[in-house]
Amino acid sequence: MQYRHLGRSGLMVSEISYGNWITHGSQVEEEQATACVHAALDLGITTFDTADVYAGTRAESVLGRALNGQRREGLEIFTKVYWPTGSGANDRGLSRKHVQESINGSLSRLQTDYVDLYQAHRYDYSTPLEETMQAFADIVHAGKALYIGVSEWRASEIRAAADLARELKIQLVSNQPQYSMLWRVIEAEVVPTSEELGVGQIVWSPIAQGVLTGKYLPGQSAPEGSRATDEKSGANFIRRFLRDDVLARVQQLKPIAEKAGLSMAQLAVAWVLQNPNVSSAIVGATRPEQLQDNVKAAGVKLDAELLKAIDEILDPIVERDPAKTESPAARP
Ligand SMILES: NC(=O)c1ccc[n+]([C@@H]2O[C@H](COP(=O)([O-])OP(=O)(O)OC[C@H]3O[C@@H](n4cnc5c(N)ncnc54)[C@H](OP(=O)(O)O)[C@@H]3O)[C@@H](O)[C@H]2O)c1
Repeated sequence: MQYRHLGRSGLMVSEISYGNWITHGSQVEEEQATACVHAALDLGITTFDTADVYAGTRAESVLGRALNGQRREGLEIFTKVYWPTGSGANDRGLSRKHVQESINGSLSRLQTDYVDLYQAHRYDYSTPLEETMQAFADIVHAGKALYIGVSEWRASEIRAAADLARELKIQLVSNQPQYSMLWRVIEAEVVPTSEELGVGQIVWSPIAQGVLTGKYLPGQSAPEGSRATDEKSGANFIRRFLRDDVLARVQQLKPIAEKAGLSMAQLAVAWVLQNPNVSSAIVGATRPEQLQDNVKAAGVKLDAELLKAIDEILDPIVERDPAKTESPAARP
């Protein structure tokens, strides 16, 4: 494993992080989830990403139990707040009330006194940014979180938050956007602004939820047990990539991966890590073998000719529109 600084902070994160969206507390039984966490640790992954909302708060509890007994100093634990965790009007968003209540719930489920990074899961247009940032500052000053991050915020929103963070003497160090060979919407605006501000990207779905492994074939049904067959939640999210034109072009990447001596998953993860503003790629996994495959992308250098060949194949289906970075107009 290789390690990078999280943005312009002193915190080191593993180039590959393990995230538990869709899997822990939902798609995968607890024994399997624990086996994945232990495999991640054995492979040198030290950074774990979760959120209060995942599996209706169960994902944090599963992760907390799986990490129980590990040396806390050897881990970076990241969680998030914004999406609903209950039915009440205040069980969501980035109000001072919900931020305070949510961090306390997360810490208890994760069985830790602090998280290394606390992230705003989306921008909340119905709470003044000043209120949210003050609530984050109070959490940092109480020692419940060390650093602050955001997720899927636009460049202008990251800039406004960074200004307030400076005033409040807390460190806004990261943004967590979707980023993969297929989804490059951060490149035009979010990345240049983040570079200027010292904010690093911790990118999600670098394998496009499994699509970039090439295991979904055009015109055929999805492999047994894959996310596309997870009717509880996964199928709903991966659907956007399951189009025959996308799947056919992904198949064309196979000879490129083979020539580079990489698996398709390794090629996908290595691709996002070529961007120097990316601090870590958060992969998901339903089985330890997937992590064993994916971690080999750490430290891989892809040459310009290979990157050009990828672009030539994927160009017609790559999403680049910066307007696709968005948060709900109203609280969910
Ligand atoms: N901030 C946000 O809004 C946000 C949104 C989404 C995700 N995230 C974060 O990003 C993390 C990763 O997202 P993701 O799970 O979509 O990432 P991903 O790494 O693109 O996809 C992971 C899924 O792909 C399949 N897979 C992975 N490696 C494989 C391999 N080597 N061979 C075959 N299949 C493989 C597995 O699903 P199957 O085995 O079921 O096919 C696995 O669960 C999440 O856990 C979460 O922490 C954040």
